[in-house]
Amino acid sequence: ISTLLICGGGGSEHEVSLRTADFIERQLRQAEDIALVRVEMDGNGRLTDRNGGVRQLSQDRMLRDENGEAWEVQYVIPSIHGYPGETGDLQSLLELYGIPYYGCGPEASKNCFNKITTKLWLSALGIDNTPYQFLCSNEAEEIGKASMALQEWGQVFVKASNQGSSVGCYKVSSAEELDAALAQAFALSPYVLVEKSLTVRELEVAAYNYEGELVITPPGEVCAPADTFYSYEEKYAEGSRAVTHVEARGLSDAQLGWIKEASRRAFVGLQLKDLSRIDFFLTDDGEIYLNEVNTFPGMTSISMFPKMLENAGHDFSHYLASLIRAAVS
Ligand code: ADP
Ligand code: DAL
Ligand code: MG
Repeated sequence: ISTLLICGGGGSEHEVSLRTADFIERQLRQAEDIALVRVEMDGNGRLTDRNGGVRQLSQDRMLRDENGEAWEVQYVIPSIHGYPGETGDLQSLLELYGIPYYGCGPEASKNCFNKITTKLWLSALGIDNTPYQFLCSNEAEEIGKASMALQEWGQVFVKASNQGSSVGCYKVSSAEELDAALAQAFALSPYVLVEKSLTVRELEVAAYNYEGELVITPPGEVCAPADTFYSYEEKYAEGSRAVTHVEARGLSDAQLGWIKEASRRAFVGLQLKDLSRIDFFLTDDGEIYLNEVNTFPGMTSISMFPKMLENAGHDFSHYLASLIRAAVS
């Protein structure tokens, strides 16, 4: 099965996307019936192969090189965190071209990538999420809302609505920090969230389709160092102090049940497909909030999605190869 792995993309998570693609490539090496071609996408949507040769994907489902030599594409893996993969744009094109692909469709991707639409959907589905204010411009009236939120909550998280990997996410405790954070977040995105900062345990589940069934793993846990949060550096930099546990300890049956049911409701309600990592906050008071739904979770060495899937007794290579075979059969 000729499978095109498109990695990179035009957003702030370009490098992380390449690391995820490395993982996927390794996983598919074992599948003899899958012929993988990897191309990297730049910020202009230009595709290049490993040797820097330009490739073009066309509506006739062919990938062409500079000499016009064509290779039929039967399946695509969009290994792109952020624009234009996790945002659903590339998936729209693949729908138009009629090429099956790994992961969620355009609408689910778009709804989940934007942190504000995610919250609207979660509320519509009756799933608790963190208290927040929504800002649609960095102008006086909107800044007033942010200042009131900071006063009321004491500490807030300012978040660009359309980023991942903690890019554009700032912990703010003072009016000066708020001004700077809003300017930085608005430089990245047209909408910004100001969220109540909570003291939390961070729990994550993998939710995915495996041999026709929806699997929701028990939650794993990410422990960021106490003096910061799970920032980009703590996620990926050399010397990160974050610690992960593939299964969180000490959760009650009621908490496990709540998380599983909320994950199921989110997966079904948002019409997710193939994979997702759904992240929760458990507060000191025992409240559980759904923080976010990642339709294309990281698969780097620190990333939880593949680890949780394997911990559930599933082999990642088999899982992915089976999805590819089912989609093209
Ligand atoms: P991203 O999509 O970039 O991962 P998140 O919303 O998950 O953005 O925020 C990144 C990190 O910031 C979280 O993993 C957590 O460590 C911290 N964080 C975000 N929101 C809150 C909050 N309301 N209270 C406490 N910590 C938070
Ligand atoms: N956005 C990163 C890759 C993640 O959520 O895993
Ligand atoms: Mg996150």
